[in-house]
Amino acid sequence: MREVAIVSAGMTPFGELWQSSLRDLFVQAAREALDAAQVKRVDGIYVGNMSGGQFVGQEHLGPLMADHLGMAGVPAVRVESACASGGVALRTAFLEVASGMSDLVLAVGVEKMNDGADVTNVLATAADQETEVYHGVTFPGLYAMIARAHMKTYGTTEEDLAAVAVKNHRHGKLNPKAQFRLEVTIEQVMNSSLVAAPLRLLHCSPVSDGAAALLLCPLERAMEFTDRPVKIRGSGFATAPFALADRADPAFLEAVNHSATRAYEMAGVGADDIDVAEVHDCFAIAELCVLEAMGFASPGGAGDLTRSGETTLGGQLPVNTSGGLKSKGHPVGATGIAQAAEIFEQLRGEAGERQVKNATIGLTQNMGGSGASSVVHIFERV
Ligand code: COA
Repeated sequence: MREVAIVSAGMTPFGELWQSSLRDLFVQAAREALDAAQVKRVDGIYVGNMSGGQFVGQEHLGPLMADHLGMAGVPAVRVESACASGGVALRTAFLEVASGMSDLVLAVGVEKMNDGADVTNVLATAADQETEVYHGVTFPGLYAMIARAHMKTYGTTEEDLAAVAVKNHRHGKLNPKAQFRLEVTIEQVMNSSLVAAPLRLLHCSPVSDGAAALLLCPLERAMEFTDRPVKIRGSGFATAPFALADRADPAFLEAVNHSATRAYEMAGVGADDIDVAEVHDCFAIAELCVLEAMGFASPGGAGDLTRSGETTLGGQLPVNTSGGLKSKGHPVGATGIAQAAEIFEQLRGEAGERQVKNATIGLTQNMGGSGASSVVHIFERV
């Protein structure tokens, strides 16, 4: 396998972008990445997208996006793994370059959720229709059950959950592209309206539009496109039992654990070597479970870790410096690529007020559904 680098990134602001269509968002992010590397044409395009068909009635995104980018003729295909679609698109692009099949490959994540669709029901198509959705449960409900299980086993409190939201909003305030650039207090989170007990409005990621793009090439060619490439050192992907009820412990995210182990092994690093991480905080409880499953905290220890400030900017392991899904926004198919775009900026020293000092090794973790799929990447400043 060849070594692979990211040489440029692009990202639209995230939010309710009523003036932009799905294809506009794609082209805006992709164009930013291409222009930064002064590249006119690529060898392949992967489009991370969860549900263009149901959100805006548009499928067959590969050729559509290639055409609108002025690259009709280039191989282009959509990659889907629910909210992990972006991360899996990145992995697919990585594998194509690593295999020697292609040199220049674009990985773009895009989602347009605000266009009149019944968002909660569209998202719920990523849960088990027969054993979960049929009975009325939606994603806030599934994560609420995970939160209840975590609270029962470890004594996790609503304040622990609130601390995740407070931290990520503090970070998101520093991100010009974040959907919600405002700080919130523990009290505001605890008093926000109940969505699915114990989860409240301010524990939830929002409904978002947006796109993000990355340009990949073999490491040996990276200096043709940038003087500060970022190497992809590891990529791990895993699945877990699909329905929550089929998991031995709903509070343990098995796919996250396995995808992290595979990425650590490939990169030859461990959790202690990571300087900055972007993880999948679609609901506050998810960030706690992910930190534990990846070895950043002991089982049940992520609440204390968060409240200690160690995962806040300036702490030992800053997590979700972009604002995370909670504050930056969560256009589902775009999220995995946007996470990597944040780490790309961090490792190049371009994150401005969000910059983690001397960041050398970064990690992203992107999850599908209630944790049935997870993809982890490890990156290194070259
Ligand atoms: N965080 C902070 N503020 C939020 C928010 C969020 N997640 N979602 C909405 N808001 C704000 C809106 O901006 C609006 O503010 P305003 O009154 O000042 O304009 C207000 O709260 C009400 O917004 P509205 O769109 O009516 O909220 P809603 O009740 O329809 O939706 C949720 C709120 C939490 C249900 C919705 O954001 C949601 O479903 N989130 C989860 C998405 C999801 O499941 N993603 C996949 C994860 S696996």
